Amino acid sequence: MTTGHAFAAGIVRWQAQFGRHDLPWQGTRDPYRIWLSEVMLQQTQVRTVIPYYLRFLDCFPDVAAIAAAPLERVMELWSGLGYYSRARNLHRCAQSVVRQHGGRFPGSAAALAELPGIGPSTAAAIAAFAFGERSAILDGNVKRVLCRHFGVAGWPGERRVEQMLWAIAQRELPERDIERYTQGLMDLGAQTCVRSRPRCDSCPVAASCVARIEGRQALLPMARPPRATPVREAGWLVILDQDSVLLERRPPTGIWGGLLSFPEVAPGERERAAEAAVARFGVTPWRVTALAPVHHAFTHFRLIAHPMLIEVGRGGVLATESQTIWVARATAGQQALPQPVRGFLEQLSLSVGPDPALRKRRDPTDGG
Ligand code: ADE
Repeated sequence: MTTGHAFAAGIVRWQAQFGRHDLPWQGTRDPYRIWLSEVMLQQTQVRTVIPYYLRFLDCFPDVAAIAAAPLERVMELWSGLGYYSRARNLHRCAQSVVRQHGGRFPGSAAALAELPGIGPSTAAAIAAFAFGERSAILDGNVKRVLCRHFGVAGWPGERRVEQMLWAIAQRELPERDIERYTQGLMDLGAQTCVRSRPRCDSCPVAASCVARIEGRQALLPMARPPRATPVREAGWLVILDQDSVLLERRPPTGIWGGLLSFPEVAPGERERAAEAAVARFGVTPWRVTALAPVHHAFTHFRLIAHPMLIEVGRGGVLATESQTIWVARATAGQQALPQPVRGFLEQLSLSVGPDPALRKRRDPTDGG
């Protein structure tokens, strides 16, 4: 890690020699031009921005010209640059500068950040370039440079990490040469400390870069952690008579569309699984057993199914719902079943054979 202002000093020196000096918005202190370029450069590369920037300047030589133009004209000229809320905010911002600030951009980052479409990093860039204000920028490229150089772990989109990066950006500001330092950070992020295959050999601060020293350039900044996958729960009515299982054809769309599966109840309804089975299928349950849940991962969610084993006497077979059929347990595996249903039925046939008590009741002559 660098000490004092060695980081800034390295970048300032490097910028003078290797940085960009001929971009169309450089060499001016006109806040209007700097504002226009900084808004266009949000999430957009320099080479894309240049022709738009020049065309805007042709059509709108000053902030009053943008403010006076109809929004449609601004949108027309912006067309192709993307992120169109920037164009709407550009127009609103110009009107605000004219109406609330007498046509002059306010002279500090704090005041600039109050205007539409100017976040804290853009405000700092404008203030540095137009007024020489000692103010920290922190756009996506700069976050990458700081994460690597100072070995900041965690995803920069996380509040805690972002606050740490703002603190570092603030701490590293040089006492002078703020314009060159700000431009140097941008140049380094855009051309040298790039996302993949950073050009560490030409980096002025490589010697003190934590990521480089530890060989972790590809791991920093850290990626967004995967979102916790949502969980969906269902109650399965596993209705068995001695030889058959009741299955239901699922609707053609949605998960397992068109496949046979167990009739379902809402997870909160599974305490009343037997009543549901009686009401919906006219069966006569003689035993209900809650079985261990079945887990299954889909791309966008996890399913936890709670099987309620409902053993029923033979005979009460109503296919009240035409999508419901009895399937012989021995051959159920040949049906079009979702994998977790198939796996569950296979397990079940190992653990729940025909019940001897049931047999006795059904067939008193059977001694088994
Ligand atoms: N990206 C954001 N601001 C920039 C600037 N002034 N020069 C080059 N790239 C930039």
